[in-house]
Amino acid sequence: MSKKILVIGSLNMDLVTEARELPAPGETVLGRSLSYIPGGKGANQAVAAAKLGARVSMLGRVGADDFAARLIDNLRGAGVNTENIKGCAGVNTGAALICVDARGENSIVVIAGANEKCDEAFLKENSALFENYDYIMLQLEIPLGAVGYAINKTAGLGKTIVLNHAPMTVELDEELLAKVSYLTPNENELARLYKRLFPADGRRLAGDNVEMARVLAERLGIKIAVTLGAAGAVLTDGKNSTHFKGRQVDVVDTTAAGDCFNAAFVAALASGKTEPEAMGFANAAAAIAVTRKGAQTSLPSLAEVDFTYRNT
Ligand code: RIB
Repeated sequence: MSKKILVIGSLNMDLVTEARELPAPGETVLGRSLSYIPGGKGANQAVAAAKLGARVSMLGRVGADDFAARLIDNLRGAGVNTENIKGCAGVNTGAALICVDARGENSIVVIAGANEKCDEAFLKENSALFENYDYIMLQLEIPLGAVGYAINKTAGLGKTIVLNHAPMTVELDEELLAKVSYLTPNENELARLYKRLFPADGRRLAGDNVEMARVLAERLGIKIAVTLGAAGAVLTDGKNSTHFKGRQVDVVDTTAAGDCFNAAFVAALASGKTEPEAMGFANAAAAIAVTRKGAQTSLPSLAEVDFTYRNT
């Protein structure tokens, strides 16, 4: 039986429009249509893992508005246990303003709302939960204190802690990063993290994602899985690094592709797949997600990922 995953993180309603180009600073562009799509890095990862057959619970917070029920319904519909998502009065549910351009690239503004209340105090109240799970998945759309608390509380208990270092608006202590099992940045997040931990290194490794990840993993004593978009992904333990090739697909929208990768990687490990198998599976899942619009609307089923993983 697959091991159990707890996702601690954000839930957002994504307000999405499509435009030919993303607006530059000071520029106004015309968007086509407006869609309300369930999102939030935490919720996206929970839905994606559940759709891939994992046993998933989510710990998070929603506000006192209509978005809350819609987000929870979508999680439930995918098979996520939502009993630990708590409402809070007087705040809005998290939201994200997303513009997607003709190449499928996006720009996103997140309004944290109730996600701010998924704080250290809330996690302390719910910390008894942690012991029931084998995998703890975290991202950076809830307060940093909460992320730190969850890592400190679960490190050393034989659990696998997976930290998706996104969005890169906050910076975690090196000491904390060293306690996770896997860090999963994209290439921008990797470069920023490298620059922060090796400030004197200048541009020595700029552009060499594999070596930057290896050096970081070596320094932190953890494993790092870097997503490289169409170029695939790299897994390194600080000694050995393996590159997993991406698939050439027609990109429609990259929103939540990273969430999909993270979830598929963890769901695969939880089901007993080896690390290389899990990386290949996660690559396949993300390759499907980018061919579809939206966050949770783009997340593939187990049958779809299995087919792509085995046949392409
Ligand atoms: O990773 C994609 C997500 O980032 C979107 O769903 C949006 O809500 C933001 O949190």
